[in-house]
Amino acid sequence: MAVPTNGNGHYDWAKEVKEFDETKAGVKGLVDAGVTKLPRLFVHPRDKLESHPQIKSTDGVKIELPTIDFEGVKDGGARRREVVEEIRIAGQEWGFFRIVNHGIPLHTMDAMLDAVRRFHEQPTEEKMPLYSADSRKKVRFNSNNGPLRENESASWRDILTCVFQDDHLDPEDIPLACRREVQEYVKCMIELRETMAELLSEALGLNSDYLSRMECMKSEALACLYYPTCPEPEKTLGTPKHSDTTFLTLLMQDNIGGLQILHDDKWADVPPVHGALIANIGDLMQIISNDKFTSVEHRVVAQAVGPRISVACFLMPSQRAAGKPFGPIKELVSDENPRIYREFMFREYYEYYKTKGQHVNSALPHFWISKE
Ligand code: OGA
Ligand code: NI
Repeated sequence: MAVPTNGNGHYDWAKEVKEFDETKAGVKGLVDAGVTKLPRLFVHPRDKLESHPQIKSTDGVKIELPTIDFEGVKDGGARRREVVEEIRIAGQEWGFFRIVNHGIPLHTMDAMLDAVRRFHEQPTEEKMPLYSADSRKKVRFNSNNGPLRENESASWRDILTCVFQDDHLDPEDIPLACRREVQEYVKCMIELRETMAELLSEALGLNSDYLSRMECMKSEALACLYYPTCPEPEKTLGTPKHSDTTFLTLLMQDNIGGLQILHDDKWADVPPVHGALIANIGDLMQIISNDKFTSVEHRVVAQAVGPRISVACFLMPSQRAAGKPFGPIKELVSDENPRIYREFMFREYYEYYKTKGQHVNSALPHFWISKE
């Protein structure tokens, strides 16, 4: 693709965005068209690509994400207390952990990954009607999950988003290529969400039903991600550095790898483990926990191998909960642990995130209590 220019011969970012959007074919469309050079729109500034050193396996440093085994957790007793303690530590120190024996059948997970691939690999014409950056649409297909900010680089991936508001989405609205699998997978996510809500409540020292009664995780935005092979992976990113805007995210990745988390200010790989899920604390959970849990920045590198498929289940508040103010849970605030964040409405939070852009640092300071 020729580099779009304006009348003065300068690179015209807006024109390239418009041309790319008009194809409605996503990044996969570029790959199908046989691009061998990364289009300028997808080139990320070097300082963003190299924001932190990367831990390589050759460094001899092995960073091992905590793995939490949910076997026997529903039986209560000593095992449950152990798991709660493991979650407390992982949520505080890592913000990310793996879950095994979570109860979701392997065939449900594999069928979901296959279905996501099927959706993205069907003829472009089938996907085009869903192409949209309008975040009010419950089901939408695009590459950047909303409009790019002025001069922002695009990412090397396509997304199908399905939003289950208050656990509900009309099945007719889900693309046929993955309808059955998405419904089944969300059912499993809701079940695991209930368990997670109990365990996280207990890890915060609250009653088991505390977070569930808050309804802070009662909606799911399912991001069905497709990272095509990339001709110049070192110049771009699959997903740029960010922290999740959620309460909690439950992530499934296929066997390709590419996810990295920022640990001790270095990028650490999170290698895939078949059958495991990854849970990560989102910004809203960090806020209501008054920093007892940490929302950690992460990214996905672009690769010459692929496509890579992952499914992120973003747990967000119910409509009712979104209508009430959020802030640190009062039981977690004391003279020794003074409140760090002010109260705000979910709408304010959401609007702030939408205008903030992907390439700036954490949004949390915006909600800090002003220091007197
Ligand atoms: C995200 C995300 C990771 C992945 O979509 O927020 O971090 O592995 N995805 O795709
Ligand atoms: Ni994320």
